[in-house]
Amino acid sequence: MLGPNGAGKSSIYHSIIGLVKPTFGKIIIDGIDVTNIPTHQRCTKFGISWVPQYGGSWSDLTVYDNLVAIAELHIKSKEERLAKVNNLIRKFELQNVVNLKSKFLSGGQVRKLTLAMSMVKNTKILILDEPFAALDPQSVRMIQQIIVSLQMFEKISVSISDHSSRDLLSCVDNAMVLSEGKIVAKGTPPRSDKKY
Ligand SMILES: Nc1ncnc2c1ncn2[C@@H]1O[C@H](COP(=O)(O)OP(=O)(O)OP(=O)(O)O)[C@@H](O)[C@H]1O
Ligand SMILES: [Mg+2]
Repeated sequence: MLGPNGAGKSSIYHSIIGLVKPTFGKIIIDGIDVTNIPTHQRCTKFGISWVPQYGGSWSDLTVYDNLVAIAELHIKSKEERLAKVNNLIRKFELQNVVNLKSKFLSGGQVRKLTLAMSMVKNTKILILDEPFAALDPQSVRMIQQIIVSLQMFEKISVSISDHSSRDLLSCVDNAMVLSEGKIVAKGTPPRSDKKY
């Protein structure tokens, strides 16, 4: 989902997960009208994970404890839980900040932490609101590769938003351009734009 500031990208995601109730229209997932289903129920039922544009972690918990807190909700076995957390710390290169409280992280490090948190549970639909914001070029490539591998090998549907087509078009099958809450263009990016 591409669009300038205020186009409505976050509002659409908030409506999909149920943080905002649409004034008109319906939210339909897998053919089911979920407009009146509360957030926690629809996220559990349809396996939705959402990484918000801002925040998304507990600021007074360390990186490690943020991940463990989410893992405790979703993974019963302690062994599996800790293995998953350690794996995500390595995958997102968070080793150097693992004992730092989230409020002391840089913008890009928070992004990596919240992306890692979204991947603790088995997800079917992953919603990433501006995942590339605040990341350095190397981290953008890492996130692009993760997105493509989730789509290809784990069959997870990933929806991402961004302002600029540069980082987004290289890792998506379908793109739409929003303006003032409406779709003004949509289609499949040309093959040359897809690098992964
Ligand atoms: N609950 C709400 N009630 C009324 N208007 C809202 C509400 N939430 C957002 N808006 C307005 O809707 C418009 C779209 O906001 P939104 O945050 O979805 O844009 P965005 O595309 O995510 O922008 P950005 O790129 O800056 O993140 C803005 O004008 C905003 O003020
Ligand atoms: Mg937004």
